[in-house]
Amino acid sequence: MNQTIETILSHRSVRKFEDRPLTNEQIKTIVKSAQAASTSSFIQAYSIIGVKDKDKKKRLAELAGNQPYVEDNGHFFVFCADFRRHALIGEMEATDVTESIESTEKFMVAVIDASLAAQNASVAAESMDLGICYIGGIRTNIQEVAELLGMPANTIPLFGLAVGYPAQDTAVKPRLPLEHIYHEEVYQQDEQAYKKQLEDYNKEISAYYHERTKGKRSDTWTSQMAGMLKEPKRKHMKEFVERKGFAKR
Ligand SMILES: Cc1cc2nc3c(=O)[nH]c(=O)nc-3n(C[C@H](O)[C@H](O)[C@H](O)COP(=O)(O)O)c2cc1C
Repeated sequence: MNQTIETILSHRSVRKFEDRPLTNEQIKTIVKSAQAASTSSFIQAYSIIGVKDKDKKKRLAELAGNQPYVEDNGHFFVFCADFRRHALIGEMEATDVTESIESTEKFMVAVIDASLAAQNASVAAESMDLGICYIGGIRTNIQEVAELLGMPANTIPLFGLAVGYPAQDTAVKPRLPLEHIYHEEVYQQDEQAYKKQLEDYNKEISAYYHERTKGKRSDTWTSQMAGMLKEPKRKHMKEFVERKGFAKR
């Protein structure tokens, strides 16, 4: 196994960091790695906002549902869908791009691009012996987050990425069985096999939580998912996304 694969397979989210900021050099390396990711039609429809200011991080931590590691980390990045530069390109090139950048397809393109960039950033950070944790919690109060970060039309904060020197050692979380995720040639629709795989995975996850929490927790993956999905969350999203000029048609 080469070192890149080893880094990728050792991933686990880190939620406790040393009080030690990343250097500007480290930040630059992480952002350059993010930018090296593939990008749909070379469109580069994302931006990354780095947050160092203590008060701003404190406020972001509150807005993200009081997650302390949003405030206490080595650096906090916010990955954003961004068509603002393309709106400006429309002006520069005297071309009406509004209908295109407001389409659902382009919304997906921006989210995909930002996510690929973020995962490159994450792997780069982890390869530098740093830990990371994605923060979708910033969408809980997305309007306030967008205001705090001074974000204009055609931009949306998608998720945060806390990076820093790990101050905890967490076990790698087991993933679904490979055959459950990977289908060959056609989508596998054997429901019985599918459910059996889920039951087997439940046992593995339950044992993982039991071990990690010294017996305090032993929930299964399917119960976790059912609990999470029993009602929609962040119902303000559609209205916010459209108001920012995304997925309007
Ligand atoms: C887009 C995204 C948003 C996430 N948001 C949060 C978050 O707000 N808070 C948190 O503690 N973890 C968050 N996570 C981390 C996941 O909970 C974590 O990746 C998952 O449980 C698997 O664990 P692992 O990363 O340790 O393998 C997020 C992950 C992703 C990909």
